[in-house]
Amino acid sequence: MTYLEDNSIYGPVSDWATDFDHADPEYNKNAHAIWDQLRGTCPVAHTNRYGGTWLPTTHEFVHEIAYDTDHFSSRGVVVATVKPSDNPDAPPAPIGGAPPITSDPPFHQHARKILLPAFAPPVINEWEPEVRKLCRDLIAGMSKDDVVDAAVQYAQHIPVNVIARMLGFPPEDGELFRGFVHNVLEAINLEPGARIQAFQELDAYIAKQVQDHIDNPRDDLTNFLLNAKIFDNPLSPQHVGGTIILLLIAGIDTTWSAIGSSLWHLATNPVDRRRLVDNPQLMPMAIEEFLRAYAPVTMARVVKEDFEFHGVEMKQHDWVLLPFPAANRDPAEWEDADKVIIDREVNRHAAFGLGIHRCLGSNLARLELRVAVEEFLAAFPDFELAPDEVVKWSVGQIRGPRELPVRITGRAG
Ligand code: HEM
Repeated sequence: MTYLEDNSIYGPVSDWATDFDHADPEYNKNAHAIWDQLRGTCPVAHTNRYGGTWLPTTHEFVHEIAYDTDHFSSRGVVVATVKPSDNPDAPPAPIGGAPPITSDPPFHQHARKILLPAFAPPVINEWEPEVRKLCRDLIAGMSKDDVVDAAVQYAQHIPVNVIARMLGFPPEDGELFRGFVHNVLEAINLEPGARIQAFQELDAYIAKQVQDHIDNPRDDLTNFLLNAKIFDNPLSPQHVGGTIILLLIAGIDTTWSAIGSSLWHLATNPVDRRRLVDNPQLMPMAIEEFLRAYAPVTMARVVKEDFEFHGVEMKQHDWVLLPFPAANRDPAEWEDADKVIIDREVNRHAAFGLGIHRCLGSNLARLELRVAVEEFLAAFPDFELAPDEVVKWSVGQIRGPRELPVRITGRAG
């Protein structure tokens, strides 16, 4: 479902500099061109939509805002029709509804510290054989048809399955999780009542799973959180529920989009595809370049007080989008910013964010992305976008293909 089909409250965009909307289906489809245009004309675009939203597009400004926790709060990280300041039920700063991503200092560092051991490299590396088997099973299950959908039949299943198993949730609820992700991240311009109802359904599902883990403890992330302590006390039920929502949402759409965009690149760039098949040792560098060039995640901040930022007058409670993907393509920061160079040597990209909220799941994300691309290429060394079929891009802050029909033109052995 796109915003034009559901009961959204905003119409199509008239001008990207003064009226942008990241829920307009044209936005993600043309994001790189739109950011280039805005960077050249007005580095901080504005829209009155969502109660007032700003969009910086240079690396310098995105970097500055991400590090400035004095003026910008993480209390709201998804720009939508429901502002935290207008919602009496919204948990206040500095904890927010989904710690640590919605938390501000000084609470943030305590909430973040709890999760660090669960996502450390030795813990995550253990998952590689399972991720690889999952990818192989998905490939085996894909039809022998010439045309397959690399997003629908492949990319979308990988992170859903992994995070469900980590949390100890039923993997068969994958479709439900994708529905929750759609509601949180894509259905952003629904009238506020409909949006709040969608969140209540998510809360109810999580409460049921948490209760099941209290009644039947096991060795997984949910029980890890139930046993965790903050300031020598157990986490509150709201903290446990909010962090589970964060892990469910942060881990799914993001990685699915990164896998999809990388396969889209390989479907449209036969030279890079052949180089990777012939030189698998290039894979780690190629993965970093796909993350830079097709970074999927834009986050948001809320302006704490009226504030002048480089000549624009930001008002208290305005939203600010933080397009890390636009920062990654700023020619002032990158040589050949618009070129995808799969053996780019220096690549300190911002795909996983900048500052205190830098992605906690980056080890897991990199593992899933690398293994997913390796296994797809191993099975299908030659493929291209399917002629006469359309690639459908997501709407909202996470950018990636939601439908990616490819024609397989060469299979392994
Ligand atoms: C390619 C995939 C991914 C990308 C590009 C990505 C990107 C990001 C970005 C940009 C942030 C910073 C948010 C901000 O500044 O407000 C972030 C935070 C976070 N990510 Fe990821 N992410 C990915 C996958 C994952 C996965 C698989 C997980 C775990 C299951 C995860 C868990 C988190 C958490 C917990 C935070 C909050 C950290 C904090 O607030 O201190 N992410 N991610």
